[in-house]
Amino acid sequence: MSKATILVVDDEKLICWSLKENLEKENYEVLTAGSGEEAMEIINRAQPDLILQDNKLPGISGMELLEHVKKIREESLVIMMTAYGDVHTSVQAMKLGAYDFVEKPFDFEKMKLTIAKALETVNLKQEVQVYKSRQKAQYGLDNIVGETPAMQKVFEMVGKLSKSDATTVLLQGESGTGKDVIAKAIHYQSRRAEKPYMEINCTSLPDTLIESELFGHEKGAFTDAKAMKKGLFELTDGGTILLDEIGDMPMSTQAKLLRVIENKSFKRVGGIKDIVVDVRIIAATNKDLKEASGEGTFREDLFYRLKVFPIYLPPLRERKNDIPLLAQYFIQLFNREFKRKVRGISRETEELMMRYDWPGNVRELKNVIERAIILESSEMILSEHLPMEITIPSQPASSQKLPVKLPAEGISLAEVEKELIQQALETAHGNQVHAARLLKMSRDTLRYRMKKYDLL
Ligand SMILES: Nc1ncnc2c1ncn2[C@@H]1O[C@H](COP(=O)(O)OP(=O)(O)OP(=O)(O)O)[C@@H](O)[C@H]1O
Ligand SMILES: [Mg+2]
Repeated sequence: MSKATILVVDDEKLICWSLKENLEKENYEVLTAGSGEEAMEIINRAQPDLILQDNKLPGISGMELLEHVKKIREESLVIMMTAYGDVHTSVQAMKLGAYDFVEKPFDFEKMKLTIAKALETVNLKQEVQVYKSRQKAQYGLDNIVGETPAMQKVFEMVGKLSKSDATTVLLQGESGTGKDVIAKAIHYQSRRAEKPYMEINCTSLPDTLIESELFGHEKGAFTDAKAMKKGLFELTDGGTILLDEIGDMPMSTQAKLLRVIENKSFKRVGGIKDIVVDVRIIAATNKDLKEASGEGTFREDLFYRLKVFPIYLPPLRERKNDIPLLAQYFIQLFNREFKRKVRGISRETEELMMRYDWPGNVRELKNVIERAIILESSEMILSEHLPMEITIPSQPASSQKLPVKLPAEGISLAEVEKELIQQALETAHGNQVHAARLLKMSRDTLRYRMKKYDLL
């Protein structure tokens, strides 16, 4: 770090001189001013990191200078030097935003410590700021790829949310479609960005724990509750909470959640006090909540409350035009990580990727590219470095799993066969050659079976 600059403001020349001497020994850069007016002029020009000022100054007073400094730059660090025992002035200085005060005559060792501590706080604040803006860039929409209309619509919704006060969002999409990244983007684009972002996976917690995780508990609320604990809703106040896999949330917790959404307040487990919070809830799921509410495993009223602002992330197979772009994005990502220089994917690789259905969605594509970059020694990702399920064209229909499922109570195979033969004949408008082809059998076999089932 470069040297910190300290401005000493005092009309007593001797004090200015001795502080300058001593502080320079501590490796600070020191400027001095004999009056408030002179100090202001220096502040405009040099922007010191810390101002050490006397309260009693000729011309404008120490308090006026402090007020002025704080008005120009709120985060300015000011340490006030006050007369010994002048509590009133010290308190007033703190109220006006001074970082600390030292009483005159001062002990230089103590003064040194106060200065070091103050500068450390500033550094820390600046670091947090840098970290936050980095986080903002990392989780912003810039790192989410998608050109297809379906994804553009998602981005548009995220944009709308950033300006809206809507406190509930329902994020639906298959596993690996990007629900997590979209949830983070929603948070970091919104006015809540500086406040906490928390995630909780409703599947991974046992029913007994989830309520205390979400809402906290009072001391003695249950056997293990040895002390009061704040829950996620309290800790996330002002920010955003992602309730992942909301479809797996126990029914009793769902009821409590609905109350939080409606009343914006809740009670800790075992508590009586209402705690008011302002939290945006993003509920994510890869389940069909409407279906779940029909089956009675998800509260219908909660479902309707959540879906006020729905965002649907389509599976990758329905937005295949994003595949080349995503592949390129991940190549750059892993090039950086593994210090590689892969340029792109070969034509054949691209064709295979476009043909494949990506059941694991974007996550699967990301993993495929990561693996290929590790294996690849040429400039392009070649098809030989793709996993087998992508390179081997899908199996003929006969060896694939049938789309029909055996009902629990069983079924007559003969009846199924008869029904399918009838359907094939209907589709083929009675043409037996076509119907046989649909059923992948010879015409003779078809005729034999038609006879068997009295269809001739
Ligand atoms: N549009 C996208 N652009 C860039 N990276 C993406 C995109 N969508 C997803 N990813 C990446 O794919 C991976 C999976 O995404 P994510 O974890 O958000 O999926 P998910 O929908 O939450 O899945 P699950 O339901 O399994 O939790 C992550 O590494 C994420 O960074
Ligand atoms: Mg997820």
